[in-house]
Amino acid sequence: MENLISLVNKIQRACTALGDHGEGSALPTLWDSLPSIAVVGGQSSGKSSVLESIVGKDFLPRGSGIVTRRPLVLQLHKVDENREWAEFMHLPRKRFTDFAAVRKEIQDETDRETGRSKAISTVPIHLSIYSPHVVNLTLVDLPGLTKVAVEGQPESIVQDIENMVRSYIEKPNCIILAISPANQDLATSDAIKIAREVDPKGERTFGVLTKVDLMDKGTDAVEILEGRQFRLQYPWVGVVNRSQADINKNVDMMAARRRERDFWTNSPEYRHLAHRMGSEFLAKMMSKHLESVIKSRIPGLQSLISKTIIELETELSRLGKPVASDAGGKLYQIMEICRGFDQSFKEHLDGVYFQLINLR
Ligand code: GDP
Ligand code: NA
Ligand code: MG
Repeated sequence: MENLISLVNKIQRACTALGDHGEGSALPTLWDSLPSIAVVGGQSSGKSSVLESIVGKDFLPRGSGIVTRRPLVLQLHKVDENREWAEFMHLPRKRFTDFAAVRKEIQDETDRETGRSKAISTVPIHLSIYSPHVVNLTLVDLPGLTKVAVEGQPESIVQDIENMVRSYIEKPNCIILAISPANQDLATSDAIKIAREVDPKGERTFGVLTKVDLMDKGTDAVEILEGRQFRLQYPWVGVVNRSQADINKNVDMMAARRRERDFWTNSPEYRHLAHRMGSEFLAKMMSKHLESVIKSRIPGLQSLISKTIIELETELSRLGKPVASDAGGKLYQIMEICRGFDQSFKEHLDGVYFQLINLR
């Protein structure tokens, strides 16, 4: 089954690599029908921190104010070898093993598109992380929802961010990771507000409560975490990410994960929920959910892929062979991947080894 998620990842990457060349073909439809997970919430609610915890690595710019200013499409690939590295789509063939350099590149690449301002851009950054410690997942980190423009930002920014977030989460195949901080009233949560708008029944929204460690003394999040304050179809997950002080002190991710586990098991009020709390649990739950979504979409995906293959074949014969142009080359690669996908449906899905063309 893991193969299936990584295959979907490859198609997603291929569709993106194709970029403008894909217009007019079935590829945009194919892309839209592939499931992914978007992380939404108010500014500084802990979105980037949650993503980092899921990955188990320090690699995202975080902090107070508007730090995430472009969507980051993050693909996690589980590998067998005991090595970890990252690759950006805009820097093909460059392997990053230093994750501080990954963070720097995200910042630089953000600035390249937006200038060194507080402006935002809808153009996504694509990053792949390969590691034996991740589960296969595609996640999108988005700029935080905000209520007012700050110095140096156009007035339209509030609406611009909302529109950008909505464009991701309104797609029926988007799984919404709605992040709300526990030290604010849930009734004021931007994440819940926008998620409810596009998914009124809560069928594809996962509620994540961050900053549980920062609640006022004498209050706790049990009501929320037990689903009694705001009901969703899926159970709420509470997380404790690193504080800004931890980050400044360079508390490493694995130590933070251990401390988080201790937090849940050692708090008398949360102990009964500990088995379904924390970042590691969240990552596993999301991967499992993504698998089941992909499985349920197989018939639809299969016919869409057959259609894509036919369209790509037509497109390729129109371009003529041998295909010299870049567009043709990529089209060809995608077609091969689609064929692999098609073939895997015909065989029995699980445990099938796909000989895939490496796009990189
Ligand atoms: P984003 O703007 O939603 O992406 O939020 P960030 O992940 O950048 O986090 C904003 C700030 O809140 C950072 O200083 C984090 O260290 C801090 N933070 C995030 N989650 C938690 C948490 O669970 N507990 C504590 N104490 N601080 C957190
Ligand atoms: Na922030
Ligand atoms: Mg962020």
